[in-house]
Amino acid sequence: MALSPSNTDADYDVVVIGSGVGGYTAAIRAGQLGLKTACIEGNSVLGGTCLNVGCIPSKALLHASELFDLARTKFEGFGIKVDPKLDLATMMDQKQASVDALGHGIKFLFRKYKVSRIDGWARLDGPGRIEVRKSDGGKAQITTRHVVIATGSVPAPLPGVTIDQARIVDSTGALKLSKIPKRLLIIGAGSIGLELGSVWRRLGAEVEVVEFLDHIIPGADTAIASACQKMLEKQGVAFRLSTRVLEATAHDAGVSVEVESLKDGVKASIEVDVVLVSVGRRPFVGDLGLETVNLVPDNRGFIPTQNFATSAPGIWAIGDVTAGPMLAHKAEDEGVACVETLAGLAGHVDYDIIPSVIYTSPEVAWVGLTEEQVKASGHPYKVGRFPFSANSRAKLQHEGEGFVRVISSTDDYRILGVHMIGPQVSEFIGEVCLAMEFHADSEDLARTCHPHPTRSEALRQAAMGVDGWATQT
Ligand code: FAD
Ligand code: NAI
Repeated sequence: MALSPSNTDADYDVVVIGSGVGGYTAAIRAGQLGLKTACIEGNSVLGGTCLNVGCIPSKALLHASELFDLARTKFEGFGIKVDPKLDLATMMDQKQASVDALGHGIKFLFRKYKVSRIDGWARLDGPGRIEVRKSDGGKAQITTRHVVIATGSVPAPLPGVTIDQARIVDSTGALKLSKIPKRLLIIGAGSIGLELGSVWRRLGAEVEVVEFLDHIIPGADTAIASACQKMLEKQGVAFRLSTRVLEATAHDAGVSVEVESLKDGVKASIEVDVVLVSVGRRPFVGDLGLETVNLVPDNRGFIPTQNFATSAPGIWAIGDVTAGPMLAHKAEDEGVACVETLAGLAGHVDYDIIPSVIYTSPEVAWVGLTEEQVKASGHPYKVGRFPFSANSRAKLQHEGEGFVRVISSTDDYRILGVHMIGPQVSEFIGEVCLAMEFHADSEDLARTCHPHPTRSEALRQAAMGVDGWATQT
C-alpha cells in the first residue's frame, strides 16, 4: 500500500468532506484499510441527500403509497375486501423512522471502523489544510495527507420559478407536503418527477407533468420510455411534452404557471395548488475554498477528476460533485475505488456498467446501451423481447404489465444493453451487471438456470429470444 497508516505529523491520513453515500462509504473504506480518517459534515445529520432527502425517503413514500393504492384498487381482485383510509401523518412518520434508523447505522459504522465525525462546514485552506466552521460558531484547523471532496449536489434552479417550499417546492419540499394537493404540476419528466408524481397521484392528487423534451425519462431506451408514459397515463398522470415553463407565480389560492408549446409557440396558463420543480441537480461546491488549492470547477460546476484525483496533489473528488450519472451507487463505488487508489490499491469503477432504475410502478431498470445508441454505432445487433404477461409469477400476482429487452451483439452475442419495465425489475438488473462484468454473453444468460416461478425468468426468456428460442412465448 502506497499510503501506510499515519506516519507524518498530519492530524489525519484521510479527511472526507461530506457524509453522503459517496463520503460515508469512502470514510468507512479508509477506516477498514487502517487509515486515520475523519469525515466532516455540515448538516446536523449524517447521510447526505440520499438518506435524508433523496433515495430513502422517496422510496419509503413510494412503497407506502403503492400499498395504499393496491389496497384501494387491487385487493378486491385477490378476494380481499377493505376500505382503506389514508393517515398521511403516520405515513410521513414511518418514512422518517426509516431515515433515522439508517442514520444511526452510519454512526455505528463510523464507530466500528474508527472514523472520527467532525461536525461543521469544511473549507480548504491550502494544501493539506482544512478549516472547519462549527455549528456553535467556533472554528477548527485540521491537517491531513489526503482530502476526499464528496460535497454532492443540490436541486437545479429554474429561472422564473422561485422555490418557497410551500406552494412551489423542490424534491425536498415534495417529500414532506403536509396535505395532498388537489392539483400538482410537475416540471420535468425525469426520475424525481415520475417517482414523486407517482406518490402524490396514488394518494389522490391530480398530477400533470410538463416536460421540455418530446419524451419522458431522458437517457432511457425509447421503447421503455414510451411504454412507461402509457402506463403512467393509465394511472392518471397527464403529460404535456415539448413544453417550456416560462414563469410560475404563487398566490394565496395556489400557483399560476405560464407555459409555452415548443411545437407551435402557443402559450397557456395553468392553475394548480402546488408546483414541483424537478429539472435536474447541479454539483455543490459552496464556499469550499477550491481556489486555495488552485482548483477550478468545469463550466457545469463539476470538479474535474482523472481516476478520482483532481489536479491538486492529495485532493480527490467523488460522487455527484464530479461528472457522470448523479446516482447513489455511482457515488458509493467511487468512494471505495478512490480510497483504494489513494491507498495504493487498484481502485476501479466500470462506468459502462452503472445501472439506472426508476421506482415507478411498474419499475424501469436498464444498463448498457439503448437501442438508439447501438443503432447509431452501426454495430450489428439483435433484440430478444419477453412480456411480463407471459411470466408466471407476474401473472399470478396480477402484475402482467411490462417487458424485457435484451440487446445483443450479432457477431459475438456480447450483451450491449438490457432494458426492462415491469414488476420489481430493480431487484434483478444487478444480475445483468454481474453478467456484463464477467463478459457473459446473452446465451450465458439464456442457459443459466433461474428459479421458478420468479419475475427474473422474464429476463432469461428475453435472452433466449435473442436467438428466437424463448420457450414461454
Ligand atoms: P450527497 O448525498 O449530496 O452528500 C453530500 C454531503 O456533503 C451532504 O450531506 C452535505 O451536507 C455535505 N457537504 C457539502 N459541502 C460541505 C462542506 N463544505 N462541509 C461539510 N459538509 C459538506 N440515486 C439513486 O441511485 N437511487 C435513487 O433511488 C435516488 N433517489 C433520489 C431521490 C431524490 C429525491 C433525490 C434528490 C436524489 C436521488 N438519488 C438517487 C440521487 C442520490 O441521492 C445522489 O446521487 C447521492 O446522494 C450522491 O451522493 P454524494 O455522496 O455524492 O452527495
Ligand atoms: P432528471 O435529469 O432526471 O430530469 C429532469 C427533467 O427535466 C428532464 O427530462 C429535462 O428534460 C426536464 N427539464 C429540464 N428543464 C426543463 C424545463 N425548463 N421545463 C421542463 N422540463 C425541463 O432530473 P431530476 O428528476 O431532477 O433528478 C435529479 C437527479 O437525481 C437525476 O440525475 C437522477 O439521477 C437522480 N435521481 C435518481 C433517482 C433514481 O435513481 N431512481 C430518483 C430521483 C433522482
